[in-house]
Amino acid sequence: MTILQIRTVPDPILRRKSRKVREVNDAIRELAQNMVATMLEAGGVGLAAPQVGELKRLIVLKLPEEEDARILVNPEITRRDGEREVEEGCLSVPGFLGTIMRSERVKARAVNEWGAKLRLTADQLFAQALEHEVDHLDGILYMDHLKSHEDLVDLSKLEESEHRHAFEVEVEDEGLMKSRGEKRVLTAGDMQDGVAEVKAEKIVGASETDLEKL
Ligand code: NI
Repeated sequence: MTILQIRTVPDPILRRKSRKVREVNDAIRELAQNMVATMLEAGGVGLAAPQVGELKRLIVLKLPEEEDARILVNPEITRRDGEREVEEGCLSVPGFLGTIMRSERVKARAVNEWGAKLRLTADQLFAQALEHEVDHLDGILYMDHLKSHEDLVDLSKLEESEHRHAFEVEVEDEGLMKSRGEKRVLTAGDMQDGVAEVKAEKIVGASETDLEKL
């Protein structure tokens, strides 16, 4: 298995539309296996073929609670229900995190690596990852769904300001949060006399923290 190079913005291939896979053959299976290895190495939840430079409608997903990765060829979302706000990121947009709306539930169809037809019903992270990866096949990145540029967070700047102690925040017991698998994401702060007033703060679940890696 080969670890492939993950293309990052502004690589123009990320903006192109991928073509349908006509035949699920050994070459597709090999590409899919290499994509799975690349996704796992990067600690990701999902990866789409254009992210490794192949304009093919092929995605791989590995949800944290699942043992095996899924390989989905020619995935199509056939139904979307509900809306929810999520924190999301992408292996092709390293160091950023954004707040966007995704569907609560989706239905999709695809074929697997052996050409068998699949029908999927997904919610939570699975639904979010499916929407994110299918978007990649159409040249769409999650930032395209931001309501405003302020909903995009530069994680390096966030860490930098934390290192400079630019803001002090009262939070509930960090140890308790950790035991629940949560982390804190600060989204905005105003400085006054060296102490920041945090205007927005989100506690996100552990599975959602993995979303910087879709
Ligand atoms: Ni992505």
